[in-house]
Amino acid sequence: MKKHPIDSLTTVTDLVLPGETNPLNNLFGGELLARMDRAASIAARRHCRRIVVTASVNHVAFNKAVPTGSVVTIEAKVSRAFTSSMEVYIDVWIEDRESGMRTKANEGIYTFVAVDTTGSPVPVPALEPQTELEKQRFDAALRRKQMSLVLAGRMKPNDAKELKALFD
Ligand SMILES: CC(C)(COP(=O)(O)OP(=O)(O)OC[C@H]1O[C@@H](n2cnc3c(N)ncnc32)[C@H](O)[C@@H]1OP(=O)(O)O)[C@@H](O)C(=O)NCCC(=O)NCCS
Repeated sequence: MKKHPIDSLTTVTDLVLPGETNPLNNLFGGELLARMDRAASIAARRHCRRIVVTASVNHVAFNKAVPTGSVVTIEAKVSRAFTSSMEVYIDVWIEDRESGMRTKANEGIYTFVAVDTTGSPVPVPALEPQTELEKQRFDAALRRKQMSLVLAGRMKPNDAKELKALFD
């Protein structure tokens, strides 16, 4: 049965405490990556209802520092499902203490694979995007998968047709 991105939406809100920061008192990058990985793995599991493992971190942009005391919200949603793999798009927001306004701080794109209890990949349900943003992310996900596979030495550049088309 087809699923929609909203079915996997996972929202995690948490504080940044002093033990999680770098010498500039901003959230340590590795801590944010771990928080994103946790939220994304829940989203992937909600999509397929199987065991999931992180196969790759395709992209992370630390656009804004996240100071100690910040309230950070991580939103993760499956952006495309392939055969056994799923791309999960993660948006990171910081909430202004006084106004409550949210600012987009960072984003990341992870790939998860659904596996059985022996660790072998298993098929996942198809995904149908609904909003304009979900459709854009869905379309670009195939090129990102090809890029990730090429960089991992799992695909020949010549076979990455949709990715190559960007440069033609
Ligand atoms: C991810 C893993 C299950 C893939 O297993 P595999 O035997 O190589 O399986 P396959 O080659 O059939 O690949 C399975 C899927 O993963 C995708 N995949 C594998 N490596 C990928 C990468 N670097 N980027 C994007 N997708 C990748 C494949 O394209 C395939 O997707 P599809 O079925 O949707 O087409 C396996 O490598 C693994 O268990 N890795 C360790 C995961 C882990 O422990 N993560 C936690 C971090 S320590």
